Amino acid sequence: MSETPLIELRNVTMMFRVGGGIFSKPSFIKAVDNVSLAIYEGEAFSLVGESGCGKSTLGRIMLGLYKPTYGQVLFRGKDIWSMDKKEFLDFRRNAQIIHQDPYDALNPMRTVYDALAPPLIRYKLAKSRLETREKVCELLRMVGLSPPEDFLRRHPSRLSGGQMQRIAIARAVSVRPSFIVADEAVSMLDASLRISIINLLLDLKNKFNMACLFITHDIDMARYFTRTGRAAVMYLGSIVEIGRIEEILGDPLHPYTSILISATPVPDPKIAKSSEPPRLRSLEIPSLINPPSGCKFHTRCPYAKDICEKEAPKLEEVKPGHFVACHFPGQF
Ligand SMILES: Nc1ncnc2c1ncn2[C@@H]1O[C@H](COP(=O)(O)OP(=O)(O)OP(=O)(O)O)[C@@H](O)[C@H]1O
Ligand SMILES: [Mg+2]
Repeated sequence: MSETPLIELRNVTMMFRVGGGIFSKPSFIKAVDNVSLAIYEGEAFSLVGESGCGKSTLGRIMLGLYKPTYGQVLFRGKDIWSMDKKEFLDFRRNAQIIHQDPYDALNPMRTVYDALAPPLIRYKLAKSRLETREKVCELLRMVGLSPPEDFLRRHPSRLSGGQMQRIAIARAVSVRPSFIVADEAVSMLDASLRISIINLLLDLKNKFNMACLFITHDIDMARYFTRTGRAAVMYLGSIVEIGRIEEILGDPLHPYTSILISATPVPDPKIAKSSEPPRLRSLEIPSLINPPSGCKFHTRCPYAKDICEKEAPKLEEVKPGHFVACHFPGQF
C-alpha cells in the first residue's frame, strides 16, 4: 500500500504514572511500547489482545484523546500534535469512538433526540430546528430504529442494550467521521445481537468509506468484523503480529497468536484441531511495572529459548504483508 495512511502511529510509547505518594516513589508503566501502525482510508482493522495489554490506550492515542509520551500520530500525513486549533478540531470530528458500554456514552437524563442533536449543531451539519429533527430521524432510520418518531423522546432507561448501542453508533457516524474506533463495542451484548451490530458497523463503514479500528479480546469477533482486512495482535503494550486476518488465523507466526486461536472453540467438529493445542507455560500475566526482559512473552511461551530472555525480537516482515516479532517465527 503506497497511499498516505489515514492514521499513522510512529514509534508511539505511552507511559502512565501509577501509585506514589508522600512517602513512596511513583512507578511508571509502558501501556503502549514503541508501536508503529498505519490504517488506511476505508479499512476494517482489528486489534486483538487480552485484558490490560494496552488496546484502549492505543485507540485513545489514535483518536487524539491521549498525547503519547513519545512518538508521532499523523492524520493524513500531518502530525496531530502540531496542528493549529482549527485543524485539530477538524481531526477530532473526523475520529470518533464507540464505547463498550453505551450507558457510559448516553446521559440517562437526556432523550435520544438530546443525544443526537448537539453534535449536528456544533459542527453546523444542520442549520435549523426542522433540519436538525429531520437529520436525527434520518440517523435513527439509518441505524435500524424505525419509525424514528417512536425513539426521539425516549430516555436510555427505555432502550435495550442493542438499541442503545445503535444510538451510540448513530451519534458517532452523525458528524461524518473518516475514522471510527469501536472499543469492545459488542462485548456486552448477547451473541445474537453482536452479529447484527457488527453488520450495521460494516454497512455504515462501506456506505461512508470510513476506516474502522475494531478493538476486541475475542479473535472470533475480529474474524467476523475484519473479513479480508488486516489485524494486529497486541501483548503487554507491543504489537507481536500484524497482517491479513486470513493469514494470521490460517498461518499464525507468533506462538501467542497461535495460543489465542487455539483457545477459541471450533464450531464445526469436522474441522476440529487434530493435534494437541500449545499451552501457556504460565497463566499469570506479567506486570507492566516490571515487564519481562527480552521478548516480553518468554515467561509464558512454551517454546522459549535462551535468546528470548535476553533479546527483544523486532517486528519483521516474514511473509509479504505479514509481520511478526518472534525469534523463531512459525517454528512450533
Ligand atoms: N489513565 C491511566 N492511568 C494509569 N494507568 C492506566 C491508565 N489507563 C490505562 N492504564 C493502564 O494501562 C494498561 C493498559 O490499559 P488499557 O485499558 O489500554 O488495556 P486494554 O487492553 O484496553 O484492557 P481491557 O481489555 O481490559 O479493556 C493497564 O495496565 C491499565 O491499568
Ligand atoms: Mg480496553
